[in-house]
Amino acid sequence: VNGVLEIPVVVNVLYRTTAENISLAQIQSQIDVLNKDFNATNSDYNTANNPYSSVRANVGIRFVLDQVIRKATNKTSWGTNDAMKRTTTGGLNAVSPTTKMNMWICTIGGGILGYAQFPGGAAATDGVVLDSKYTGTTGTATFPFNLGRTGTHEVGHWMNLRHIWGDATCGSDLVSDTPTHNAANSGVPAVGHRSTCSGTPLEMYMNYMDYTDDRGMYMFTNGQKSRMLAIFNVGGSRASFR
Ligand code: ARG
Ligand code: ZN
Ligand code: CA
Repeated sequence: VNGVLEIPVVVNVLYRTTAENISLAQIQSQIDVLNKDFNATNSDYNTANNPYSSVRANVGIRFVLDQVIRKATNKTSWGTNDAMKRTTTGGLNAVSPTTKMNMWICTIGGGILGYAQFPGGAAATDGVVLDSKYTGTTGTATFPFNLGRTGTHEVGHWMNLRHIWGDATCGSDLVSDTPTHNAANSGVPAVGHRSTCSGTPLEMYMNYMDYTDDRGMYMFTNGQKSRMLAIFNVGGSRASFR
């Protein structure tokens, strides 16, 4: 396929309260954030004092809202066991998961903002889950996770990215142009914040795959871009999206 990869997005909304039945405007605001963050048009892309500006990437993937499906339920929270992804457990089945990215929006609970399935898993549960309070930039979106970056982070996982600290002390994210981090960052770290891992590199806390607050993260790297695009190539785990 020539040109920019375009991913249709099916949004499955599971709600008990009217607040959880988020507006189309809030859903569209999440799609808009994905389009900005994956195309280097986010307003904070050129933040000053970014020591990693030379490796920041325009990933070049577009997201198009395909359909919104809504279902009233009596569940107060859904957890992380994929119950929201199956009608047999009260949720909504994925729609065309080999050609469309499914997003489930519900109350997850337990302080979880969102979670995603990596490439290579079962089609029936493929997609990303976002808590409605951390979806998009308007409506019920709640500070400090009110800029849609949970969606960007989870779609990063869905496209095969690991956490920047490699889920271990000074672990690896399998990407060579991201530095080694001690652990997850939170809040908005100070400019110049260094890791104590080998070489004491400046940490890339402004990367979407860290745990920084939404206003503190604004880039993917070229290495992350290659890792994401590889899964859509012929023979890749998401080649069916081409
Ligand atoms: N904790 C979630 C995860 O591990 C998402 C973190 C998103 N961070 C943010 N600033 N919105 O997938
Ligand atoms: Zn994550
Ligand atoms: Ca790395």
